[in-house]
Amino acid sequence: MGTSTDLHTLVSFLSQHRWWIDGFHLFDFFCDNLWEQVDPEWREFVDAASGDFMEHLLHVATGGQIPEMWPESLKAVMCIARTLALGRRVERDEEIGILPEEDVVYDDEACRLAAMSRKKLHEVDRLSRVIFRVAERQNADSIIDVGAGHGYLTHLLAHQNPSRRIYAIDCDDARTCGSKDRGTRIVLSNHHRHPTRIIAEHQKENPVIYVTARLDPQTLPEILEAHRYVLVGLHSCGDLSGLTMLRTFLECEGVKGIVVVGCCYHRICVDREDDESQLGFPLSNNVRSLIQVHHPSFSLTYRSLTTACLTFASFDNPSTILSALRGHYHRSLFELLLRSWEPAHTLPPGQHRVGGLPKAASTDFRSYCVAACTKLGLCTSDERRGSLIDAIGKVEVDREKMMRRIAFMCVMRSFFGPCVESLVLLDRMMYLKEGLGIPLDQDKHEGKGRVWLNNLFDYAESPRNMVVVAEKATCV
Ligand SMILES: C[S@@+](CC[C@H](N)C(=O)[O-])C[C@H]1O[C@@H](n2cnc3c(N)ncnc32)[C@H](O)[C@@H]1O
Repeated sequence: MGTSTDLHTLVSFLSQHRWWIDGFHLFDFFCDNLWEQVDPEWREFVDAASGDFMEHLLHVATGGQIPEMWPESLKAVMCIARTLALGRRVERDEEIGILPEEDVVYDDEACRLAAMSRKKLHEVDRLSRVIFRVAERQNADSIIDVGAGHGYLTHLLAHQNPSRRIYAIDCDDARTCGSKDRGTRIVLSNHHRHPTRIIAEHQKENPVIYVTARLDPQTLPEILEAHRYVLVGLHSCGDLSGLTMLRTFLECEGVKGIVVVGCCYHRICVDREDDESQLGFPLSNNVRSLIQVHHPSFSLTYRSLTTACLTFASFDNPSTILSALRGHYHRSLFELLLRSWEPAHTLPPGQHRVGGLPKAASTDFRSYCVAACTKLGLCTSDERRGSLIDAIGKVEVDREKMMRRIAFMCVMRSFFGPCVESLVLLDRMMYLKEGLGIPLDQDKHEGKGRVWLNNLFDYAESPRNMVVVAEKATCV
């Protein structure tokens, strides 16, 4: 995938089904009567489906086969969404440095020594291999970890690249301090491929350079000195992995390569009418003109970008999905309750940010409401609590039927999320190719450079798993 024809189909598809990615907050399910806006054939099917519907739905949500007897129009949309979204399998790619998973085992001992979770160790180990290859090929003398956080990647890079200067940049000073502290005490074992070694010792000879700074396309070039750099980022939020880092790569002579995995797409700037150069989507001329010419009413909004990280395909346990779906059901019902229960005390409709709640809140609707109201500061006295319990008793819905409907809507939306993420990533690829002068249907071009988009992490371990790698053609 990646040609303009594929992009055309992808944008058309998202444009056609825009309501699913952009048209509603699921917690307004009851209040806005969202079910009435779903295709009547699908509604009828969900309401009439047999008792094993939820089981099938969970299977489909995790990438399983769509049952033959489901409506043709529904199967078609699901299949097209799956076809248009970028694939998620990790394929060996020696040139970039992507090895098969079985080459490395992240056991408890490796995690303990590296002081990282299994997920983090998996990510930094695989990413650092790619970075090392790029730094070697580009003869880079410095690597800059942008949005370095607690320094998990930074410290492994310092260990693997003893002759290179390693920078750790983050806008959060507490994280920079934590990272510094970690760097002086960590004992890092990158399992069998590298001997266990004390980073603190190494730090005395070649210390990591820590910088607290909020980066944007203007500040990053200012921080860079005259060296040969590789810019890297692990789960760099929003525009950091897009506009900021990609533009810096293209505009700064000294930046020879970039290796970045993005996340938090909802933080991409899509709303700056006064200054289009600050927009994080679309970045490429190709995608911009495709939208302008063929889909002028299409755009990615904050809400549609929040769906980009929505997927159940990486869940390996149906009960975890079921509990997430139950959370959506409770949240929607809670919104309904809030509007009738002393509305004077509540915020305007839809403005309550409930977020994560303690595990006990997921047991039943009553526990959910008590936990949510406590978190929102709405249960300030015994009297208020009593009135809340009364109000909960008055909420009457056909629980099983509503749960099915909400589960269906949530799973449907999860089919579009990976398509949105794919569009964002393909746009970034196009932008890099345009900037380097590489033909859009090629990965590399003699004398210009190369651009890759590849799956790097195991999807079940880390669903934001796609790495963007670009290199300039200067290898001297
Ligand atoms: C999701 S965390 C990832 C941290 C680290 N790379 C990791 O994988 O553990 C993103 C980090 O980027 C930092 N960050 C976000 N926007 C930034 C910006 N514009 N400039 C510098 N740091 C930024 C945040 O403070 C946060 O530490």
